[in-house]
Amino acid sequence: MKKNLDLFAHKSKNWDMNSVRVRNAKEISDVILNNIDINSSMEIVDFGAGTGLLSYFIAQHVSKIVAIDNSPSMLEEFRAKQSEFACETDIIKADIMDDDLKLNVDGIISSMTMHHIEDIEALFLKLFNMLNEGGFIAIADLDSEDGTFHSDNEGVYHYGFDREKLANIAKETGFKNINFETANIIKKPHAKFSVFTMTAQKV
Ligand SMILES: C[S@@+](CC[C@H](N)C(=O)[O-])C[C@H]1O[C@@H](n2cnc3c(N)ncnc32)[C@H](O)[C@@H]1O
Repeated sequence: MKKNLDLFAHKSKNWDMNSVRVRNAKEISDVILNNIDINSSMEIVDFGAGTGLLSYFIAQHVSKIVAIDNSPSMLEEFRAKQSEFACETDIIKADIMDDDLKLNVDGIISSMTMHHIEDIEALFLKLFNMLNEGGFIAIADLDSEDGTFHSDNEGVYHYGFDREKLANIAKETGFKNINFETANIIKKPHAKFSVFTMTAQKV
């Protein structure tokens, strides 16, 4: 895959008009808020923030969200509604795996992005090193699926995830208090797809 190709350019304008996506982000944010002691002094990262659906629901509970995404078109939509966010927001156009991201934050959230990242062990290490002591991750993505969730699998490295395998990777990385909860079931005409939210802590 070409590194600088904006794979979301044709979807970004209408991304937020899909009520399934909005509801999914809301359900994920509910699980995060129920499981993590989020407070208004926290600075957090949303990686693969896209147009900001998940960030939007978390914004009123934190001090600052750093939105990282490698799609200029998705971030353009984020920027268009930036003034409506209840907390300070920073937008960084970057690949989450880039070495230049020298960030230290209290938490990292993400929705429906991890399946676009090839090396999950490297991702977890990257996230671990980005966190302050006591910091959390809250990552939502698809449970293992048969490859039919997306109509086009370009840029999709994983057909969902096996929770036990992910938990082991997180444990090996050094995360503690690893927990999974089903956040949502996305119904498509041909099948249903479950979405988990994984939470864990650097302690
Ligand atoms: C399926 S969208 C989800 C967007 C948003 N989180 C949501 O739930 O609506 C995946 C997002 O991850 C971004 N993305 C994919 N790979 C990435 C990477 N390596 N680094 C940063 N962002 C990435 C894409 O550009 C896209 O905006």
